[in-house]
Amino acid sequence: MQTDFLVIGSGIAGLTYAIKVAEACPDKKVWVLTKSQTEETNTKYAQGGIAVVHDPEHDSFAKHIEDTHIAGDGLCTPEVVELVIKEGPQRVKEIIEWGARFDREKDGDYALGREGGHSESRILHYKDVTGAEMERALLHKIHQLSNVHMTSDYFVVDLVTQHHLGFLVTKSTPDIQCYGVYALNLATNRIEIIRAKITLFATGGNGQVYRTTTNPNIATGDGVAMVYRAKGRIENMEFIQFHPTALYQAGQKGQAFLITEAVRGDGGILRNHKGEAFMEKYDERKDLAPRDIVARAIDNEMKIHGTEHVWLDCKGIPTEQFLKHFPNIHQTCLKAGIDVSKDMIPVAPAAHYSCGGIKTDEWGRTSIKQLYAVGECASTGLHGANRLASNSLLEAMVFAHRSFVHSITAMNELSYDHIEIPEWDAKGTSAPREMILITQSLKELQQVMSDYVGIVRNNVRLERAARRLDLLWEETENLYKNTVISPQLMELRNMITVGYLITKGAIFRKESRGLHYNTDYPHKSPLLQPIVL
Ligand code: FAD
Ligand code: SIN
Repeated sequence: MQTDFLVIGSGIAGLTYAIKVAEACPDKKVWVLTKSQTEETNTKYAQGGIAVVHDPEHDSFAKHIEDTHIAGDGLCTPEVVELVIKEGPQRVKEIIEWGARFDREKDGDYALGREGGHSESRILHYKDVTGAEMERALLHKIHQLSNVHMTSDYFVVDLVTQHHLGFLVTKSTPDIQCYGVYALNLATNRIEIIRAKITLFATGGNGQVYRTTTNPNIATGDGVAMVYRAKGRIENMEFIQFHPTALYQAGQKGQAFLITEAVRGDGGILRNHKGEAFMEKYDERKDLAPRDIVARAIDNEMKIHGTEHVWLDCKGIPTEQFLKHFPNIHQTCLKAGIDVSKDMIPVAPAAHYSCGGIKTDEWGRTSIKQLYAVGECASTGLHGANRLASNSLLEAMVFAHRSFVHSITAMNELSYDHIEIPEWDAKGTSAPREMILITQSLKELQQVMSDYVGIVRNNVRLERAARRLDLLWEETENLYKNTVISPQLMELRNMITVGYLITKGAIFRKESRGLHYNTDYPHKSPLLQPIVL
């Protein structure tokens, strides 16, 4: 099978790119693959909205740029911050033209929300389900394009590079090239070769590496693991953002429901078990300090009081306002027996966003030729050591556009490589005898990552995590060599790789900066550098 543009992932990054290349090149084939149902993405769950300078009279690019740098704690790439923030409004205008709706005030102007780390109200949103609305608009638009082929239930297993043609490929091989992918067709259970002139990874985040996360099941870091296996560059993986306020439900594991930061923007106050509003002890911006600070403060309060959560008090927000701005949260809390007008919401931090990922340049190019990466799987330099709230939907749209611009020019000079790509070699493998070997290893991985590589780290914990991960890796590789491939096994293997990359990054970073806080190195190092693996 072959296509001109192959897009892996159907969230905001993949769909935006696919729409643009399909419209610009009506004679070219665009194939979008996704391992689950098309709309099951991190994008669908985005709540707060999209940060953008909408009204230059009350806001400015300079302020949004400064806020991004402050959150990123010195590690953002200045040129990238500037281009994302300045090109953002144009990208937002486009998605509005494609049909995405955002809430408006009575006077017809857009309603702008406020989130942690922002010096102005600048978050465009659609109630508390902004991501679902954007995903809806993108899918509606893409279905109108006849040269786009969308396929769900296709699990991309690996990139095809020179390695599969029998050449030795190492990190120092200068011209690693992507010829397409091997993908497991979940309908037939066969691994197929898909050749592509240009491949774009938009595979999203990796929250499932942790015990509790705001991310859905698809967020297993597959793209990062595949690029790492193909000897591409990965950077800044130690910067995992924990969202301060996921709904706490006793005994819950896996995906936790998010209580958007916009609730604190509307006046929600964090309280400890004594009912004290504690954020003023930690930061003068109180409940609207950047996320790393709020998450660490909550973690500290939970440790001091020996509790598994703190409270979010929304009783001061008029009920009518809460219902208007956060209908989904209101409904979900009610189902959990919480009436936000009378009860406080139990909340705890949960793994939320991966700031690092596949290293890309300002055009979304990875270190592997003909492979681009956009969205949460990419590391563009925008977020530095900590992402500013609601900057990721913006980043995905800006870099989808930039990758589109670059790749349609590149496409003119590309033809299908007439190389013989070998069929997937499944010799010596048999059906898995015990699924528990996979499920148990996954639990162990999530436990190790949550206990040793979480919000607060130290050297002993990190070394311990590295040793546990080595063992899990060895066992999983044995299983992989002897077992017929399944999505569960591939995801486990990918998540162990991602866990290893997070842990290695954390071990190499001998300082505390942004989301990486190591009590053995509580200060910042004067050396400002990304950690590239
Ligand atoms: P995703 O939307 O996650 O899409 C990934 C796609 O890749 C999926 O289609 C998946 O099936 C596919 N895929 C992955 N691996 C494979 C494979 N091996 N084979 C085939 N397909 C594969 N950001 C903001 O800016 N504002 C917000 O308000 C906001 N709120 C959020 C709330 C929640 C609860 C969460 C979880 C995140 C939030 N974020 C927010 C972050 C933001 O939603 C994500 O960073 C962004 O949507 C990621 O988009 P993406 O296109 O990169 O990936
Ligand atoms: C939120 O709504 O609090 C999440 C926003 C984000 O992750 O950017």
